Amino acid sequence: MLSESQRHTIDQHVQQWIHQMSQEIPELIQQIQTDTKSSRFDLVTNVDRTIESRFEQFLKTHYPDHHLYGEEAHHETHHLREGHTWLIDPIDGTANLVKQQDDFCMIIGYFFDGEPQLSYIYDYPRQKLYRAVKGSGAFLNDIRMQPVTPQSLKDKIISFNNRVLNDETMHALLDASFGYRLIGACGLDSARVMTGQFGAHIHTNAKPWDIAAQFLFAQELGLKMTDFEQQPIDFVHGGPFIISNPGCYETILDILLSNGGYQK
Ligand code: IPD
Ligand code: CA
Ligand code: CA
Repeated sequence: MLSESQRHTIDQHVQQWIHQMSQEIPELIQQIQTDTKSSRFDLVTNVDRTIESRFEQFLKTHYPDHHLYGEEAHHETHHLREGHTWLIDPIDGTANLVKQQDDFCMIIGYFFDGEPQLSYIYDYPRQKLYRAVKGSGAFLNDIRMQPVTPQSLKDKIISFNNRVLNDETMHALLDASFGYRLIGACGLDSARVMTGQFGAHIHTNAKPWDIAAQFLFAQELGLKMTDFEQQPIDFVHGGPFIISNPGCYETILDILLSNGGYQK
């Protein structure tokens, strides 16, 4: 068991690290170097790599027995379910960083024995730190976030990655909701759901680091977060993912599972 005071100490420490990292980010962006990974749309930069390696150093120095699972260089999945485990997406929305210098964030999730303990989504361009602490709630720059009020899909804006949804499903979702917006960074699209601005964010193939922080925010803010069969998502594997206002959730899943749904 992790005590409340242990959790609090680690939280303070990580916040300090994020603050320190934020001082280095402008210089990293100034010297940005971009490479492609699996396709011309799949980008990585020195900013992504440096942040992840700085976080590795932070853990090695202060918490040497903690495990790290990160997008860029830490893919070992053994032992993630036992003891202390950290997941990091150093830059979520790298394409936005490269093409717009806006709308990207850092995602960090801390788990103990497979249970989420601390979560961070750091919106660097807007200087907004979303933070969740197990049992204590969620905060935006230290101001407590309120649990969302259930609202129907017809009144809410939703977001999803339109490349993979079948046309009919996409149009049915557009018709049933108030409207559609996509930021293009899973952490920031999810944050809009956490603040009640969006009704839901859907990602048909989320990687563990894309959604590492969202588990605890969903728990603390009364949101639904499951796969499309209403089953819990395994934090080590990721997969189809919806984070939703409880008032929109079932209507969205009904639509998503009809009309041929999406391409895997
Ligand atoms: C991407 C973003 C994007 C999502 C992609 C992710 P990255 O993360 O979250 O919104 O649609 O599937 O890979 O690659 O910028 O960390
Ligand atoms: Ca990502
Ligand atoms: Ca990334």
